[in-house]
Amino acid sequence: MFARSTAARTLARRAFSSSARAERKVAVLGAGGGIGQPMSLLLKTDPLVTSLSLYDIRGAPGVAADISHVNTKASCKGYEQADIGSALKGAEVVVIPAGVPRKPGMTRDDLFVSYLLTLSLLSPLTSPLPSLPRLRQNTNASIVRDLAKACAEHCPKAMICIISNPVNSTVPIFAEVFKKAGVFDPKRLFGVTTLDVVRASTFLSGIQGTDPKDTRVTVVGGHSGVTIVPLLSQTEIAKGVSGQAYKDLVKRIQFGGDEVVQAKAGTGSATLSMGYAGATFVNSLIRGMNGEKNVVEPTFVKSPLYESEGVEYFSSNVELGANGVEKIHPVGQLSAEEQELLNACLPDLKKNIAKGVEFAKSS
Ligand code: NAI
Repeated sequence: MFARSTAARTLARRAFSSSARAERKVAVLGAGGGIGQPMSLLLKTDPLVTSLSLYDIRGAPGVAADISHVNTKASCKGYEQADIGSALKGAEVVVIPAGVPRKPGMTRDDLFVSYLLTLSLLSPLTSPLPSLPRLRQNTNASIVRDLAKACAEHCPKAMICIISNPVNSTVPIFAEVFKKAGVFDPKRLFGVTTLDVVRASTFLSGIQGTDPKDTRVTVVGGHSGVTIVPLLSQTEIAKGVSGQAYKDLVKRIQFGGDEVVQAKAGTGSATLSMGYAGATFVNSLIRGMNGEKNVVEPTFVKSPLYESEGVEYFSSNVELGANGVEKIHPVGQLSAEEQELLNACLPDLKKNIAKGVEFAKSS
């Protein structure tokens, strides 16, 4: 899965040689969860990762002990609760899958706050209500806000990759906390939308009988329902998919996450495919940080593309470099159908972003 190009393979080889080895410490916050565990395992097998720091409010030391026996070079240590400072110290990349996943019938937006919002305003690290399950006290908005505070304090220069949903709102929350702390660098904050691209590639290649690895589909917008906009007209392989087949494919890419939520019947959402997507994104990010050129991944970042329409964050193809975002690619030529999809995406995205900003400002 890693090292797709020749240059990447060269870099990966160099990463094993001690002289050229760039130290890349990756911290995973929420490492004990459904996504955190497989993603951490994949990161342990990535030759570009030299040190793994696994943090969760529970279970991370056990996960780290297990993963640390895998015979790859990266060191691996687990941390719990009060140890978040040690977990984040020196981290250059922080990946955040901490939070509550969806159950059948829920949208990603439903994960934002719960009926226990007032309790959630208490920090998970200092809550005086240990007898209540912590996940009920802290929905994803407050979990991400509190983790952002910890990152602002302990690793303000790290590249931050947000997986916790709703990504359309949690990325703005993270940004606002960093702004308040005076450490916000828009080039270093990423919403991970890789799974949408992974799904688009799988679903399209399933229809056309192609190898998914050669079937790259650009997906732009946000990461939920109609804010997910696949640009199939830009992929030669999608030519010929039209009419109802096209509509069905678009819908499946937009709502593919629901298939997993339903199949798991209340026990969670996508974890294994997300673990793969998260580790893929981190590998690309580190390749860019290590100086490899032309590393492009779609990701939800602070973007000028639709700022004039009040949409401050947007996912499009982004070139990754030493300092994070190197270049934000425009969406390119759209078909009439794609323009319609984009028209439906932007108002929703704008609302999701505003909700995140408002939450961060008022809490
Ligand atoms: P999970 O419930 O299996 O794991 C979440 C983990 O976060 C748990 O181990 C929990 O203890 C931990 N956690 C909770 N509060 C924490 C805190 N304050 N600090 C550190 N850790 C904390 O959930 P799962 O399935 O791993 O999903 C995690 C998140 O990822 C959900 O919000 C889900 O919606 C989202 N997700 C995002 C996707 C994307 O494409 N960006 C795709 C699939 C899921």
